[in-house]
Amino acid sequence: MAFGLFKKKENKVSEVKTGFLNLKVKEVIRETEDAMSIHFEQPEGETLSYKSGQFLTVIVNVNGKEERRAYSLCSSPYTDAYPAVAVKRVEGGVVSNYLNDSISTGDTIKLMEPNGNFTTEFASENNRHIVLFGGGSGITPLMSIAKSTLDQEPNSKVTLVYANRNKESIIFNEAIKEMSADVRFDVVHVLEAITDEFECHEGYLSQEIIGNVLKGVDVSNAEFFICGPTPMMDLTLSSLSALGVPDNQVRKESFVSAADSAKEDNANDGELVAREITVIYDGDEYKYTVEPDETILEKGLDEDVDLPFSCQSGLCTACRGKCLSGKVKMDEDEGLSEAEINEGYVLPCVSHPLTDDVVIEIG
Ligand SMILES: Cc1cc2nc3c(=O)[nH]c(=O)nc-3n(C[C@H](O)[C@H](O)[C@H](O)COP(=O)(O)OP(=O)(O)OC[C@H]3O[C@@H](n4cnc5c(N)ncnc54)[C@H](O)[C@@H]3O)c2cc1C
Ligand code: FES
Repeated sequence: MAFGLFKKKENKVSEVKTGFLNLKVKEVIRETEDAMSIHFEQPEGETLSYKSGQFLTVIVNVNGKEERRAYSLCSSPYTDAYPAVAVKRVEGGVVSNYLNDSISTGDTIKLMEPNGNFTTEFASENNRHIVLFGGGSGITPLMSIAKSTLDQEPNSKVTLVYANRNKESIIFNEAIKEMSADVRFDVVHVLEAITDEFECHEGYLSQEIIGNVLKGVDVSNAEFFICGPTPMMDLTLSSLSALGVPDNQVRKESFVSAADSAKEDNANDGELVAREITVIYDGDEYKYTVEPDETILEKGLDEDVDLPFSCQSGLCTACRGKCLSGKVKMDEDEGLSEAEINEGYVLPCVSHPLTDDVVIEIG
């Protein structure tokens, strides 16, 4: 079996979609004390086209300011009649708390079309083991991948390793229980604290737990997907590597970025100086000057150029453009594959011009 497409950094260049849609909220379900799922009606006369593992960008107005955030689809395009996302509160977070507190059935939410590369192609002839490592809200894209695999690939198996604070914070606990009725699905819960009887590992996810999980996996025929808080993802990546899992069978999706901490450094980075750049978007050409502490996207938006974006953290690729000339520095390139980087693609939301001849084409 070939694994050429599994490693994120070796992905094919993906199609970037930047269209907008307005979807009506069909139902809101409180999943845990601090997480809810939002189920949308289908667009009028159509079925939303998306791949398991992709995300929607929610665009909402909070306190008079337009905010955009990415939320992975937890529904499967094969088994769920309606697309859905799940949102977990982040302490002090603007949008996650707004959605948890304010969204109800019948509301209409502005969204950007599904996007993202954290996905896999399903085929009925596949006979593989999909191993999913999730932590907290990182379960969302994994749920979609799990449901689609079980539905589309009768000979494939799914193992989910899911780490949470306690039983009460397990998002989709009931749905996961129901999926366990399928002999091809296995779940390993890891809980920091156990309050009552519950089959799980107590404590934090560890290399030992991952090693035990791998005892039931034919690694040569497996694909691994990781999504969760940064320490949990780092631990899983290093454990899989130490346990001999080849990098190109492992894919990951981050919800938080390292780009924020780079911002302060850039202001004092002698390499970065104010430079005029050219951005070509939708056939129009824009010229503006980017200061060392600004990103190419940020300045474009300040200049009223209606550029596409979502996470503004270099994770989602919604802002992706191709650098036609010159050089840029990216604070974060997590969202791009190696192929995309080699082809000159950049993420303007975390990019700064390094030369005076930067031309970026977006869309
Ligand atoms: C591709 C992608 C898919 C995503 N899918 C989901 C999803 O399915 N469900 C979901 O709940 N979230 C998801 N997120 C995260 C989501 O987009 C927001 O970042 C999150 O809801 C926080 O937004 P906020 O406006 O509440 O916080 P902000 O106001 O943006 O941030 C407040 C503070 O919290 C920190 N912070 C931001 N996000 C997190 C986080 N996830 N964990 C810990 N600290 C954080 C920030 O650094 C900041 O200090 C996804 C992110 C990406 C890039
Ligand atoms: S807006 Fe998400 S990568 Fe730039």
